[in-house]
Amino acid sequence: MHIPDIIIAIDGYSSTGKSSFAKIIANEFGFLYLDSGALYRGVTLFAIEGGYIDGETIDIPALDKALDTLDLHFGEDGTYIGERSIEKEIRSMEVAGKVSPIATLSQVRDFVNRKLREFGDAKRVVMDGRDIGTTVFPDAELKIFMTADPLVRAERRADEMRAKGIEVRVEDVLANLQERDYIDSHRDVSPLAKADDAIVLDNSHMNMQQQLEWLKGIIADKFDC
Ligand code: DC
Repeated sequence: MHIPDIIIAIDGYSSTGKSSFAKIIANEFGFLYLDSGALYRGVTLFAIEGGYIDGETIDIPALDKALDTLDLHFGEDGTYIGERSIEKEIRSMEVAGKVSPIATLSQVRDFVNRKLREFGDAKRVVMDGRDIGTTVFPDAELKIFMTADPLVRAERRADEMRAKGIEVRVEDVLANLQERDYIDSHRDVSPLAKADDAIVLDNSHMNMQQQLEWLKGIIADKFDC
């Protein structure tokens, strides 16, 4: 099957397996994979370490100014600040607990979107996030909106974290992802929403192979290939 030069935008709720699916797609089709959530998590780690978050309060003007100095980028094996790999730190519960309020800030969204759009010209890109199909690449040729049962999602995320050596309880993960869903869908700037032309994928009872077959069917139909 010859896949055309397109951008595939994958949006959806937390822990629906967007990034795992996007990585498999990238591998199968020879596309570049970009994890937009990792950049929001990277900014959050930077804000925590720089002391810009105090409890519930974020020093927005100071963080905004500091973003000029933040060298956040994708490296060979994940996300980096300068030379430092931050892949493990950005997956911690501490970062997960603070990332949604950080991602509501328009200054942060502009910063991340600028980085993401640099990759758009290349096409053959699969990107996952919350607003890729609505805001970052509204002209993406293929948009998928992923959803799944919340408990299934919490169990998957807990397994993923345990595999990385992070001990968690499913109840805590469930509470965190429900809170993030709420904040992500209700923020003023670029909320999580299905683009009108996105196709819904509910993968509560689908494995990765089934999802890939489903996607190939969609592509074959839509692009006549
Ligand atoms: O996909 P993730 O769980 O790694 O994303 C982390 C957070 O980043 C998520 O709670 C919301 C935010 N995010 C966003 O607002 N917009 C995106 N395009 C991607 C992520």
